[in-house]
Amino acid sequence: MPESAPRRRLLPLIGGVGGGRSAKTCLYRCGNACFHPAPNKSDNPYFGDIFQGVLSRRTALKGALVGTGAGSLGLAALSPAAADRGPNRPHPSPRPTFKNVLPNNRDEITVPEGYDHHVIVRWGDPVLPGAPEFDFENQTGEAQAQQFGYNCDYVGFFTLDGDHGLLWVNHEYTNEEIMFAGYTDGETADPEWIKVAMAAHGGSVVELERVDGTGQWKLITEGERPFNRRITNETPFRVTGPAAGHELLRTDADPEGVNVLGMLNNCAGGMTPWGTVLSGEENFNQYFVGAPDTESYARYGFPTDYSGRRWDRVDERFDLAKHPNEAHRFGYIVEIDPHDPDSTPVKRTMLGRFKHEGANVNITEDGRVAAYMGDDERFDYLYKFVSDKKYVEGSHKHNMTLLDSGTLYVARLEGNSPAEEIDGTGTLPSDGEFDGTGEWIALCTDAESHVDGFSVAEVLVHTRLAADAVGATKMDRPEDVEPSPVTGKVYCALTNNDAREPGQADEPNPRGPNKFGHVLEIIEDGADSAATTFGWIVPLVCGEPEDDSTYYAGFDKSKVMAISAPDNLAFDKQGNLWISTDGQPGTLQTNDALHVMPVEGRFRGELRTFATVPVEAEACGPLISEDQKTVFLAPQHPGENGTVEEPTSVWPDGGFPRPSVVCAWHKGGRDVGN
Ligand code: FEO
Ligand code: CA
Ligand code: CA
Repeated sequence: MPESAPRRRLLPLIGGVGGGRSAKTCLYRCGNACFHPAPNKSDNPYFGDIFQGVLSRRTALKGALVGTGAGSLGLAALSPAAADRGPNRPHPSPRPTFKNVLPNNRDEITVPEGYDHHVIVRWGDPVLPGAPEFDFENQTGEAQAQQFGYNCDYVGFFTLDGDHGLLWVNHEYTNEEIMFAGYTDGETADPEWIKVAMAAHGGSVVELERVDGTGQWKLITEGERPFNRRITNETPFRVTGPAAGHELLRTDADPEGVNVLGMLNNCAGGMTPWGTVLSGEENFNQYFVGAPDTESYARYGFPTDYSGRRWDRVDERFDLAKHPNEAHRFGYIVEIDPHDPDSTPVKRTMLGRFKHEGANVNITEDGRVAAYMGDDERFDYLYKFVSDKKYVEGSHKHNMTLLDSGTLYVARLEGNSPAEEIDGTGTLPSDGEFDGTGEWIALCTDAESHVDGFSVAEVLVHTRLAADAVGATKMDRPEDVEPSPVTGKVYCALTNNDAREPGQADEPNPRGPNKFGHVLEIIEDGADSAATTFGWIVPLVCGEPEDDSTYYAGFDKSKVMAISAPDNLAFDKQGNLWISTDGQPGTLQTNDALHVMPVEGRFRGELRTFATVPVEAEACGPLISEDQKTVFLAPQHPGENGTVEEPTSVWPDGGFPRPSVVCAWHKGGRDVGN
């Protein structure tokens, strides 16, 4: 790519865009994905286009089921959740009762009365023993590679004993303008700044200890800390699964196509029953330049000219004109074992390649493992992987093979109301719910492709194109997809989609444009994560409660809080759904927040606000500890619209903002939320 090639025009850095995210989030997080046309050019139908055919099929199906009990689709799939939502069904446990945190724009963490919080670890804090102390004005890549990275997103926590634990944190991306004084763009950046930014990506493992038997945890800062680890852009990864070693993954530096350096833009994730972390490589396209002008690169949004970051200036592999296959080595679910600091992290190709938000697992009825995943792009898809092997408790070596063989599915959803009743305004259809049925369409197993014209490896590398070919349902940016550990129902945060036009609204994505997002609930047929059919319902349509287009599972909207841009999900041990947001400043003009909502019983839909995060920060994490004494929260990109010279946030310490991980606990020792 000649230096004279036209640069992609930088877009203005003010105002709320992309469904409420700030312009700088858009630029640095996802390379301004929302400013470009949605990359899904497939002609997959919106539900309204195919409704008539579906209606006739469902009518026939319903008739066939009468008098037979449940058929292969199951009655539950025809009336999703209805049986569980009756007003007389007792809630399985106390609902959250804390006093709401009110919307605000303060540059601090706010938790409810009776709670306290503590900043556990901040960008730049030493992670590896012997790491230098953070020196904001004299940053180096070498120092950053030993220190806590930038923008924290997913948080996992593994108890070692009652008073010690390992915290895993994804470092999704960097905000260079508030990291380096005088930064303007990647082309003119000091190459050392680019090295710092590269090293600030990835993940961290840090050991924590409990404070005085409370829900407070603090960073251990002395001693050997054998588990502490930084994963950066230079960390070797092993590639496994059916696409490992395929010619699409081979490069000059790795002719076997099985060894990759680093992971990119890791967003959300999950913990497995066998003690590992699954972490999703999300907007990996934005780090590259010079992509070939072909469908397979365009479908993932790779720039044919220059990216804003210009990592190619310090590492040639990010120039796809020279190393086109490097693009195929990112975009996977990675698996990391935080208990073994010497282990090589793994890229699991069997779980497909797309803009993985994250992955969360559930055990199927027969003991196998299902992983639920979202592809966070406007009009992209929901996926599920089901292993062919069973989980074996205590057999770590065996369990580390579970994600390498099985079946990869993509979701197709169908509504059960007439298309003309879904008008894009959010008005409920005459049956009172946005709901319907769906099926998991098999894309491939490790041995066989189910997509015409695609080999198994091609399905797993060009997954978006394979899913286009089977008619998957275009969703409003699937973020976290997470099964409830209490009920097994699966929840998906659909954060927003400004590009959905009114005529493109369908029952699973009922507003066009969708400015505030919604949450989807999936009830697998037979309550089994191995099922290939499911029912679904939309329990939460976000926005201001006063807005007619919003819906809180039928709960009295005078008693709920506003929410916008749902992103990360978590559950407490009662099965209440915790929802953090990324975009309330641009849509509700208030700081992002952590909310919690019962999803069972008569308080289903009673959404409360547990915490708010500092100015221009996103409320990432969140995680409720197993003993429910602690909420972990990761405010990322505080002050993202500022500069070093003119900061808009100075949280948590003054001077300049530092993305950090926080814990909150009840001062009286109660379970959090109650
Ligand atoms: Fe990194 Fe989809 O949020
Ligand atoms: Ca309906
Ligand atoms: Ca996210």
